[in-house]
Amino acid sequence: MKFRDPARDLALRLLCRFEATGAPLDQCLHGLEGLLPDPRDRRFARHLVLGVTRWRAQIDWVLSAFTRRPLESCAPAARQLLRLGAFQLLHLDKVPVRAAVHTSVELAKRHAPPGVPELVNAVLRQVAASAAALPLPDRRADLAGHLAVCHSHPRWLVERWLDRWGLPATEALLRADNQQPPLYVRLARPGAEPPPASAPAGPLPGFCALEDSESFFQSPAFRCGEYQVQDINAGLPVALLQPRPGERVLDACSAPGGKATQLAAQMQDQGLVVAADRSARRLRRLRENRDRLDLRSLRLLVEDARIGQSGPFDRVLLDAPCSATGTLARHPDVRWRKEPGQLAALSAAQHAMLCRAFARLRPGGVLVYSTCSLEAEENAGVVARFLRITPAARLEPAARIFPGRPWAATYVQTLPGREPGDGCFAARIRREGP
Ligand SMILES: C[S@@+](CC[C@H](N)C(=O)[O-])C[C@H]1O[C@@H](n2cnc3c(N)ncnc32)[C@H](O)[C@@H]1O
Repeated sequence: MKFRDPARDLALRLLCRFEATGAPLDQCLHGLEGLLPDPRDRRFARHLVLGVTRWRAQIDWVLSAFTRRPLESCAPAARQLLRLGAFQLLHLDKVPVRAAVHTSVELAKRHAPPGVPELVNAVLRQVAASAAALPLPDRRADLAGHLAVCHSHPRWLVERWLDRWGLPATEALLRADNQQPPLYVRLARPGAEPPPASAPAGPLPGFCALEDSESFFQSPAFRCGEYQVQDINAGLPVALLQPRPGERVLDACSAPGGKATQLAAQMQDQGLVVAADRSARRLRRLRENRDRLDLRSLRLLVEDARIGQSGPFDRVLLDAPCSATGTLARHPDVRWRKEPGQLAALSAAQHAMLCRAFARLRPGGVLVYSTCSLEAEENAGVVARFLRITPAARLEPAARIFPGRPWAATYVQTLPGREPGDGCFAARIRREGP
């Protein structure tokens, strides 16, 4: 009988494409509906791709014990097949060992050069038999190395988080990054009913968690603009900004528009929200969201936040491009796409954007600077440097807006593993003077 395994087949092709192009995983997974008609296959294919990506460092460490040459020197399809098989053996209780090995060998026969089916068969059998007995890097001798393998994160991130957050918070954070989060949505209209099979979630009212998102995007309620997909903590910068109906508000880095549409909704769609972004491609997604939600007060603008001139605005949101290290649960590929050397360039760009955004604020107006990074250089570091050179800027503590909330002190700071949802940093700054 002809071998058919559409979910694993597609997962393998997507993993190869992801590695070859370096494109974000979200982009590789986009349009799965057209490729796999059966929702169960779609769910399984997505689970495999996300799982292999999430557990890659641990899987590669296990595989390296059973392969004679380094995994990097294997043919790309062979490498991904080994990872796909090993992920099922190490992390999927419901897939029997025989099925994980057999399906991987069959896929190898179809997609890989001669010799690979035999290699896959031999290595995966050894993984099934002996992986549990492999000693992890010693926790006492090499804590960061141990945690990096155990929780499948890059060592440099583990080291900096141990320094920054300490051991208990870092372990909780690493664990949280490896849980698949539910889909979070914001009720986008007054009086919107929560979606079926959802539960209220997060620190702000009007946010819900959905366990099964498979049919959500096709539902009439989503298409008619009842809901906007948005992480539960991503709503905090807008809540900290406190926009009012009738005001002129700039969202300087707005695409794809979770916060811009939240701004307009919070302003009862009265006034003006200028939703700017450097990327015309990403603004197209914002336009789709705006039209679906039928928000009239949102104006789109292609603009670089380092040189934008229009204004003055009553309020400005600067949700700056960042390393996104607070979003690793939702975006498992991000951990492999970042390097420590990128932080200095990000922080310099963030500083330039903050200076420009502040200049577009009217005296007395309020700016919120936010990121989804957990790194001090991109957060408190950027704010402190800006305050040092800007006498007219006054920091307003977040605890005044969110009294009694553990994640609000001088700044808003949520930390995965301590709070549900993404990591979010936000600072509220007022422009003083005439
Ligand atoms: C964190 S995302 C914004 C998310 C958005 N606020 C939301 O809630 O959906 C950062 C955005 O900054 C944009 N960006 C990057 N560099 C920029 C620049 N120099 N000027 C304006 N936008 C920029 C990116 O295209 C990206 O859409």
